[in-house]
Amino acid sequence: MKILVTGGLGFIGSHAVVELLDDDYEVVVIDNLYNSSIDVIDNIKKITGKEFSFYQNDVCDLDALEKIFSEHKIDAVMHFAGYKAVGESVEKPILYYENNLLSTLHLCKKMIEHCCFKLIFSSSATVYGNPKVLPITEDCKVGSTTNPYGTTKWMNEKILKDITVANSNFTVIVLRYFNPIGAHKSGLIGEKPNGIPNNLMPYIVRVATGELEMLNIFGNDYDTPDGTGVRDYIHVVDLAKGHLKALEKAISSRGIYYYNLGTGIGYSVLDLVDNFEKVNHVKVPYRIIGRREGDIASCYADPSRAYKELDWKAELGLEDMMKDSYNFILKQKKG
Ligand code: UFG
Repeated sequence: MKILVTGGLGFIGSHAVVELLDDDYEVVVIDNLYNSSIDVIDNIKKITGKEFSFYQNDVCDLDALEKIFSEHKIDAVMHFAGYKAVGESVEKPILYYENNLLSTLHLCKKMIEHCCFKLIFSSSATVYGNPKVLPITEDCKVGSTTNPYGTTKWMNEKILKDITVANSNFTVIVLRYFNPIGAHKSGLIGEKPNGIPNNLMPYIVRVATGELEMLNIFGNDYDTPDGTGVRDYIHVVDLAKGHLKALEKAISSRGIYYYNLGTGIGYSVLDLVDNFEKVNHVKVPYRIIGRREGDIASCYADPSRAYKELDWKAELGLEDMMKDSYNFILKQKKG
């Protein structure tokens, strides 16, 4: 079975490609290298000992998609490609709407033209906005997003729903990720944001290595046990494995399905810092500053639907996430 992976050299995409190859799927990757680097190809090959096809193209590019679908009989698509920085999306809404919506539209158009009807879509817990109920189930209200990035995820979900209504063969599994962190055990692939990181984990590792002076904690006056923000951190390898379960579901079903991929456990910013220091025997200096605009107090999943219907649950704990995130960055530094 041949799977097209868009954004397959990115943080989550590359881990999914590893799992697919390990499970003997054939893989074709399209990635424009906007937020990834070409050496990920060799690292995936080193981990798996397997080959895959690669196209350095943009998913918005209809001609490139036509070429891929003509050259390969694609059975299913995992669609990871997209811009994902919340702050940047506020500054450049047109770029975000154009890229994140057009890529999905063009991809689905070419899939249908080439009779490929199975899609796994990367959505996000961001579609739930500021949750009224915790833990968050898939039936919680979606759509009160707080930034253009989040809105593109929600709009994509709506577009995909309409496509499944109009095309009875078309099947979509929407995966709503909570906070993916960690890296592959080998330390060969992981998260490498350009510039100063916006997200907590990449920031912590850079402070630990001395590249950044200290972590700024955005507020300790939230209604949480220690006052800092609580999130559902999930190991990227668990997340990648969830995609393979979703793929099995897509192959055996029709219609559109939604799943939370999280652990169901919320940890605070201070929990992460403490755990990181203990596990890696390194100091992470921090200071408390004001709240970041748009942040919410707590967000964690009820992942039971994924367990019941996909037979998937997160296996790796916070310690693995801390260890693997740090191991990846140390290995990068050593070259
Ligand atoms: N935080 C800090 N300091 C930092 C960075 C983050 O204190 O330097 C705090 C935040 O205030 C928050 C927590 O760490 O309480 C996590 O923040 P992240 O930026 O790592 O993650 P978010 O939960 O804000 O957002 C992430 C992704 C979104 C996605 C969302 C889904 O960035 O793309 O999870 O829940 F939509």
